[in-house]
Amino acid sequence: MPELNLILLGPPGSGKGTQGERLQDEHRLPYYATGDILRAAVKDQSEIGRKAQEYMDRGDLVPDDVIIGVICERIQDEEASDGFILDGFPRTVPQAEALDSEMERLGRTLSVALLIDVPDDEVVRRLGGRRTCVEQGHVFHVEFDPPAEEGVCDVCGGELIVREDDRDDVIRNRLEQYHEKTEPLVVYYEGKGILRKVDGARGLDEVAEEIRGELAIARAEGEV
Ligand code: AP5
Repeated sequence: MPELNLILLGPPGSGKGTQGERLQDEHRLPYYATGDILRAAVKDQSEIGRKAQEYMDRGDLVPDDVIIGVICERIQDEEASDGFILDGFPRTVPQAEALDSEMERLGRTLSVALLIDVPDDEVVRRLGGRRTCVEQGHVFHVEFDPPAEEGVCDVCGGELIVREDDRDDVIRNRLEQYHEKTEPLVVYYEGKGILRKVDGARGLDEVAEEIRGELAIARAEGEV
């Protein structure tokens, strides 16, 4: 079967992480979420983490040169030889161009850029109620996807916290950054004929089902 090289696109809180976790289980592919990678780097106070922290706290994007190398390195890894899932990368046109160059250099192609589309007011509602596992980044929602025990991750037992950048003012800035810098990628990938879109405002299981359907169509049409 041809490799599946999948990009998850969408505004903050659209469900990229939630659906990415399911896709990772279903397709048994490595899943690279740049937000998780950067938060781990901040926690370790590595050089990348020190460079990224102030941008992340404000809800700004970290500079392209900080993140591009990190992802190009991951997709070359042996574990990604049958495909990969990218969540949160690319997020700017220069990042998308860098990914294209790297894929071309490796003799590989992107299969699908999947846009999980959600309106801004729903983003605010979702991020306001999100709880994130400090250990492994699993996500829950106090109303839409509550953990069995309040404050405790169902998957690994880690503590659930409110992310630093899930404050109202930072959420607003993240949305602005998305519309200004990331949304142009919708047209970019439409132009390459690999954009597929799902309605992310529906329930978790309905969105997962729609994604399965879109990937099945892509496979039938020979894109995957
Ligand atoms: P990142 O962690 O990638 O943040 P994001 O894109 O803003 O995405 P989120 O993690 O907030 O949301 P999500 O779409 O994964 O939604 P989730 O599944 O959690 O990046 C953080 C920061 O890192 C950036 O601001 C930037 O500074 C930096 N960064 C990262 N990548 C970068 C890059 N490439 N370039 C430059 N800077 C970069 O769901 C949200 C909530 O909704 C959860 O509570 C969930 O339970 C709930 N939910 C999910 N789906 C549904 C549903 N269908 N119905 C109801 N509730 C739902």
